[in-house]
Amino acid sequence: MTSSPLQQALDPEEFRRQGHALIDRLADHLKSMNGREGETVLPWHPPEKQWQDWQALLARGKGMALSEFVEQVLERSIRLHHPGYFGHQVGPPLPAAALLDALAAFLNNGLAVYEMAPAGAAMEWSLLQWMADKLGLPDTSQGLFTSGGSLGNLTALLAARSAFRSRYPQLPASDARLLVSDQAHYSVLRAAQVMGLAADQVVSLPTGADYRLTAETLQVTIEKEKAAGKLPFVLVANACSTATGSFDPLAALAAVCRQHGLWFHVDAAHGAPFCLSPRLKSRLDGIEFADSVVWDAHKMMMVPSLLTAVLFREGRHAWSSFASEASYLFRERAEREWFNLGHRTLECTKGMMAMKLFGVLSLYGEEVLIEHLEGRVQQAQAFAQQLRSDSEFELALEPQANIVCFRHRPPAGRDWNQHQRDLRRRLIEEGRFFLVQTDLGDRTYLRCCFMNPRSEASDWMALLERLRLLGNLQHPFF
Ligand SMILES: Cc1ncc(COP(=O)(O)O)c(C=O)c1O
Repeated sequence: MTSSPLQQALDPEEFRRQGHALIDRLADHLKSMNGREGETVLPWHPPEKQWQDWQALLARGKGMALSEFVEQVLERSIRLHHPGYFGHQVGPPLPAAALLDALAAFLNNGLAVYEMAPAGAAMEWSLLQWMADKLGLPDTSQGLFTSGGSLGNLTALLAARSAFRSRYPQLPASDARLLVSDQAHYSVLRAAQVMGLAADQVVSLPTGADYRLTAETLQVTIEKEKAAGKLPFVLVANACSTATGSFDPLAALAAVCRQHGLWFHVDAAHGAPFCLSPRLKSRLDGIEFADSVVWDAHKMMMVPSLLTAVLFREGRHAWSSFASEASYLFRERAEREWFNLGHRTLECTKGMMAMKLFGVLSLYGEEVLIEHLEGRVQQAQAFAQQLRSDSEFELALEPQANIVCFRHRPPAGRDWNQHQRDLRRRLIEEGRFFLVQTDLGDRTYLRCCFMNPRSEASDWMALLERLRLLGNLQHPFF
């Protein structure tokens, strides 16, 4: 008897064959990503070409083998495992963490209410308590997991505003002020827009030459706003900032916030896991005073995107961002039940996202994460030292994290900023290395994020040599 196409697609033996073949292929991919076999870090295709290729594949219709599909994807994707990858703040996940994500996808338990994902709910709750504890937050602390730091910042800021409104119900909404470092991730400004704050309600605080806020600037700004009849309700500090990896002085900022009754939000999307390392945790001194913290596990904890924790000093605030009425889901309206997670997130259905980190801790423990964190910061420091000793390069600032900004000195007559941009584009199109760029003030810098434990000193030395060579070509770019 012939089975239907649907029955064939559901066949467990077919799944077994596909699964084994996929893992074998990915293990081979991992092995080949050593920078010595000519594999490129980014097989560069212009967007239009990429789109046309995928359109053509879609037009081909059914019948493609899984193995061919996988090849098509691998051939056209950036390879984070490649030792020449010094790119954005998304790193190569531990292979086992990727497998656990596949397990989550297979089970597809959607976390909104307990009955939809019983194990997922309990894993989330346990992990959130573990994270709050690691940051030194008090026992009253609770949190939630959500899809990305951007959504995390929005969630925390909504709670901050809700707390403010219940304290000052009579105050005209337009008098509230959100204070934010001028180095904040753009998601904070976007969150302010989503919240309906007018442009003049968002006050950008200037940072110093090290791209960190100072308590004095905060103090002066609050006094100025108050003198003008406005009321700052929240400060957003960085631990660390996106562009340069700079950590704000959290303890000093927390003290000013406390003095003036501001909610203290720490965007620690990148740097929060530094709390695990005895060597790095001092950068976060004062985070234990935060009213809310955003912590992305998909940046520095070797798990696949996305996994963001929003932690609240006072657990009750975890419910205040989104007050919901959905009688078919939340029948008993027992809003404080920890296990009905949908009350606390913008998402209704949400994957079993905590499982990958829970699994990494269960399989390998914190040690593997600490080794990764310390290793990447050490690499960034060694790279910075190398740049300092080389007159052809200019270091923007001492790295506090695993992010290094620098410039190549152009040959006489060439514009510095254009030179960095051209150099990066040329380098990326070649495919051996990948790095990013950022603007600091009116200067464009090259930016390396050390995210990849497979990169070694010889790789970044080779990167510098390549930059030197390309940067000194007579007509290198056009
Ligand atoms: C400091 C900071 N906050 C928030 C975000 C946004 O996180 P996500 O990309 O997970 O939305 C980033 C991303 O780079 C970041 O660096």
